[in-house]
Amino acid sequence: MKKITRREFLGNSPVAIAGASTIIAGFEPSEKIKAEGKISVSSNDRIHIALIGCGGMGKADLKSFLRMNEIECLAIADVDEKHLAEGIKIVEETRSRKPDGYRDFRRIMDRRDIDAVIVATPDHWHALPVIYACQTGKDVYVEKPLATSIKEGRVMVNAAHRNNRIVQVGTQQRSAKHFQDAVRYVKSGHLGKIRLVRSWTYLDWKGGLGNPLDCEPPPEVDYDFWLGPAPKRPFNPARFHFTFRWFWDYSGGLMTDWGAHMVDVVMWAMSEDPIGAMAIGGKYGFPDDIMETPDTQQSIVEFPGFSLLWEHMIGCGVGPWQREHGVEFHGSNGILVVDRKGWEVHSETDKLGRPDRIYRMKAVPRQEGSWDYHFYHVKNFIECMKTREKPVSEISFGHKAATVCHLANIAVRLRRYISWDPEKEKVVGDTEAQKLVGRKYRSPWVLPEI
Ligand SMILES: NC(=O)c1ccc[n+]([C@@H]2O[C@H](COP(=O)([O-])OP(=O)(O)OC[C@H]3O[C@@H](n4cnc5c(N)ncnc54)[C@H](O)[C@@H]3O)[C@@H](O)[C@H]2O)c1
Repeated sequence: MKKITRREFLGNSPVAIAGASTIIAGFEPSEKIKAEGKISVSSNDRIHIALIGCGGMGKADLKSFLRMNEIECLAIADVDEKHLAEGIKIVEETRSRKPDGYRDFRRIMDRRDIDAVIVATPDHWHALPVIYACQTGKDVYVEKPLATSIKEGRVMVNAAHRNNRIVQVGTQQRSAKHFQDAVRYVKSGHLGKIRLVRSWTYLDWKGGLGNPLDCEPPPEVDYDFWLGPAPKRPFNPARFHFTFRWFWDYSGGLMTDWGAHMVDVVMWAMSEDPIGAMAIGGKYGFPDDIMETPDTQQSIVEFPGFSLLWEHMIGCGVGPWQREHGVEFHGSNGILVVDRKGWEVHSETDKLGRPDRIYRMKAVPRQEGSWDYHFYHVKNFIECMKTREKPVSEISFGHKAATVCHLANIAVRLRRYISWDPEKEKVVGDTEAQKLVGRKYRSPWVLPEI
């Protein structure tokens, strides 16, 4: 294997990372990392962060981090110069020091003065920055969904754990007190045996993207770098900032976009692993649109002791329980419904006066939702950087939620039931489906084996 020089690694053009391990092996971690195998930030230290991906969510994350006085943002990387300048301005407005700006996020990996990175790139660009950051001794706050494939997620989890990194996934609902209370209630057993969990997102967004033509990328954008490991194709404004979500090359549609949040609540409360999935869906709302992922989808995910029914629609805003999004836990005694605005419990009927309904439950009136939980999520990450304790959305939790969403998407794409072995993280008896557990990387980018 050709040894890649440090200069090549840090250069502006993507270089072969056949490998990443060669590079990382030749990468000299700081004395501190060498001695401790981890960075431990003392409670008095200032924490030096960098942001990778400064679009809508990157800016929101950055602002939450900067609300803490101890945070210093030293660098920002983005392949879009305009977004990069916007990020730099945000830091300049709150701090005296101007952060360094890079087009190539790998420049950040080489810096020893950076304790943590925020990864807020599009989903297809989560895996490599997270893996490199873990390998170079940085903690990570990575946006949801963890990755675009189950295989990428597994490698990311391994990279985090083997390098003793703190990695928080941006599923901020875990830091909302009302979600914590609702999950505690579900776990208490009061609802009785939970056989059905329903989760949904009905987004009354503009929906249709229309059919814009391919064109030249904006001059301020390094489009080839934006594509990165995704297949090469001409630039199209719909397959770009923000709306990349609706294309298989970069994301998994609403199933992974909001599924990563809502299914995460299911996994948190139910503590079981999926054993199969089936799904139907299509572009029923916007059939002539350039969007690829289903605007309407119903997925049924099988767990050993219950079924998860997922529903989504783009372009409609009223779902079950008159809520645009939510999770419903249906037990033999009652039903708990939770969303970002609050939670409540409804009692089941008792028509037959069944003696096995040992807990005759009372309805719980609506408990109001908490607010500002994105900030608390970021705060939890910073606290865990100091204590080295597991953050509330530790990377393996993000991987579990994303796995369920990806399985449902494999089922919707192949239009059949997918049987899943959660221990081996492999599809059972279906080679075509197994291929979709990973994804092909465009050369020279390579997903390392970890
Ligand atoms: N936690 C939440 O509630 C929440 C909300 C919205 C988005 N998100 C997640 O945040 C991520 C970003 O979404 P968005 O809506 O902000 O997208 P966006 O398109 O607005 O921003 C992505 C940014 O990443 C940049 N980028 C692309 N490739 C890059 C690379 N190789 N190096 C550096 N920068 C690169 C783009 O130029 C852009 O500025 C997604 O994974 C999304 O799912 C999370």
